[in-house]
This record gives sequence, structure tokens and C-alpha cells, in this order.
Amino acid sequence: MGLPYRLFIRPTLKFQDSEKAHHRSLYFLKKLSAFSVSRLALSVLYQTKHDLPVEVFGHSYKHPFGLAAGMDKKAEVLLGWQAIGLSFAEIGGVTMLEQSGNPKPRMFRSDKHQALINRMGFNNPGSEKISQTLDLHFKKHGPLNIPIWVNLGKSKLTDNSEAHTDYSTTMDRLWDYGDVFVINVSSPNTPNLRDLQNQDDLSKIIASCMKVNQDNCHSKNLPAKPILVKVAPDMSHEQLELIVKTAIDSGCSGIVATNTTVSRVATTDAKDAKTMAENGGMSGLPLVDKSTEFIRLIYQITDGKFPIVGVGGIMNAEHAWQKITAGASLLQAYSAFVFQGPSISKDIVKGLKKKLREHNFNSIEQAIGLDHKGDD
Ligand SMILES: Cc1cc2nc3c(=O)[nH]c(=O)nc-3n(C[C@H](O)[C@H](O)[C@H](O)COP(=O)(O)O)c2cc1C
Repeated sequence: MGLPYRLFIRPTLKFQDSEKAHHRSLYFLKKLSAFSVSRLALSVLYQTKHDLPVEVFGHSYKHPFGLAAGMDKKAEVLLGWQAIGLSFAEIGGVTMLEQSGNPKPRMFRSDKHQALINRMGFNNPGSEKISQTLDLHFKKHGPLNIPIWVNLGKSKLTDNSEAHTDYSTTMDRLWDYGDVFVINVSSPNTPNLRDLQNQDDLSKIIASCMKVNQDNCHSKNLPAKPILVKVAPDMSHEQLELIVKTAIDSGCSGIVATNTTVSRVATTDAKDAKTMAENGGMSGLPLVDKSTEFIRLIYQITDGKFPIVGVGGIMNAEHAWQKITAGASLLQAYSAFVFQGPSISKDIVKGLKKKLREHNFNSIEQAIGLDHKGDD
């Protein structure tokens, strides 16, 4: 339904407030995925027949494409993400405390540039309520077929000096339900959050999450969960190198690159200029090259030995391929679901399969970091 979405649904959503349109889309997906018949219909429409397996972070992913953080902040559409064929879904950002986020309006759309500007500010029910939601979900439906990732944010009320407790409390409350945890110190919409992207603060946060991880492993006799760090695209090469080294030295399992950017597209169009003047982080097409460049740098810094999750501006299979060959093992998107609709996953996997055929590769793993092969 890529074309019908672009012809009929997107033009309707265009006239709606971005956040309301977002809630309506989630509501429909949630309702449709609640019944086995409509869930089956979604699977028939959107699931890809192609398998492109990737083994990473202790799991086997059916293909590399999953949902980025921020779309399902309340963890309420889990069956929907599975039904439309994503290979994993990241819920949240979840904070220790429930919070309403920044005043509305706080999400803006530039159709011309296929970009979103948001300053949501981690609106979410807090980790206690999310753990109840997930508990109910698992009791009712059993485990999902896809890994669930949890995006850990920091509550606005918590001072940066106590950030480690905020992140690790959420991790503790959600440990049983998440397969992978992502420490997000890179959102531009919580005051001073990005200041935590320094060696001292970041290692303290990771150490606190590691402790929770170990305690849960020992008491439940289960393996440790992978912890990743998500980085912003607005920093120097040196800063990025320091963060990546801190993540490795502190025992993390990978990096998610990248979050939204505070940079903007130059535009002469009055409507777009107004959108671009809004405060917040920009996602979507204008971010695609910048985030791919970060993936490339991280791959170089780590000699390709530290798994990278590529996110930022992926709108089609060509973008996905660029991120994989720059070094990403897995991919995520948010904005593409707004501009392209739910068929994006199927389109990307199909396009990646074609790319593999063109290169005579029989697995996606042969393509990861391809741009760097033969460098030495
Ligand atoms: C409305 C909105 C809310 C977001 N919330 C979060 C969040 O809570 N945590 C996070 O790590 N990233 C968040 N993101 C960033 C996305 O996960 C992703 O990194 C970014 O949008 C770039 O990907 P894209 O160009 O495919 O959208 C949010 C993005 C948008 C548009």
C-alpha cells in the first residue's frame, strides 16, 4: 500500500496537526493489530517474503530494518510493528518519572524536504506504568516474535548529577521485557541532556546501568542484556571518538547513530522557513548524509569491531544500502513512516535483496562496512 498511502492517506494527514496525525495513525495500527484477522491482513499487505538475516546483540534479526525510538513512546502498538514486518521495535524514550513533555504544538512537518522538527521532550507515562503495560501485554499475548528495544531517557526533573539513577531505575523496571537497552543522552529536547555526552557523566550512567544488568542476571540466572549508546549528529570528530571509546571501555555492546540534528535546511519558501525556525531536533531526509557520515566515522574509529545501528533520514533502499556499506549492522527509521507509510519496511528489504544480488553477495553481513574493505 505504498502508493495508496502516498496518494490518499498522506495528503489527508497533511492538513492535520503533525502530532494529532501521529496519534491517529498509531490508533489505527493499534486497533488493526488487536484482532487476529486484521493482523493477518496487515501481515499479508506489509510483511516481506525476503529474509536477510543478521546475527547481532545476541539475537537473530529476520532482516536489518526496525522502528526507531520516539514513535511508540507508550509501548502500545507492539503487535502492530510485528504485523507490518519490522524486524525489531524500539519503544520509548522512557524516563523514570511520568512526564507530559513540552507544550504543544511540538511536532512540525516540512513535506517539501521530507523533514520533521520535534521538541516533544520525552512525553511518556514513566517506567513504572510502562512496566505494567508490558507485563499485561506479555501475559495476554506471550513473547513477541521480534526483539523489543527500550530507549532510556532522563526525567526533566532529575538533575544531571543524578542522571545515572534515573536511567538505571528505568532499566531495572523494564529489564524483564526489553531485549536491548539504548542509553539516550542525545535528545536535544531535554535541557542540558546532551551535556551528558562526556566521558565522566556517560561512564557513570553506563556503570549504573551495567550494575542493574548484572544484578538482574544473577538473581534471575539469565544472560546480560546488550546496552547501546545513542549519539547526536552535532559534535566534532574528537567528541564522537571519545564517546565511542567510553562506550567500549564501559562494556557497552554498540552505538546507535544518530539522533535528530539541531541544524536546519536553508530554504526560501516562507512556510518551510517558519517550520525550520522552530526549536527542536530535525529528522528525515536532510539528516541522511550526516548520519551516514557518523556511521562511517564510528566504523573507522572501531575498526569495524563494534556494531553500529544506523538511523537518520532513511527513506528508501538506496539510503539503507549506503548506511550498511558505511558500517551499520542494523537500521531504524521514524520519519519514513510519516512520509512513505507502513510499506517502507517491505520496500527497503526488497531493495536490499536486489542490491545483494547485484553484488553477488549471499548475506547482508558481507555488505556491512563494504565501503571500507580494501582500505588497508
Ligand atoms: C517525534 C519524534 C520523537 C522522537 N523521540 C525520540 C526519543 O524519545 N528517543 C530517541 O532516542 N530518539 C527519538 N527520536 C529520534 C529518532 O529515533 C531518530 O533517531 C531520528 O528521528 C532520525 O531518524 P529518522 O530520520 O528516520 O526519523 C524522535 C524522533 C521524532 C521525529
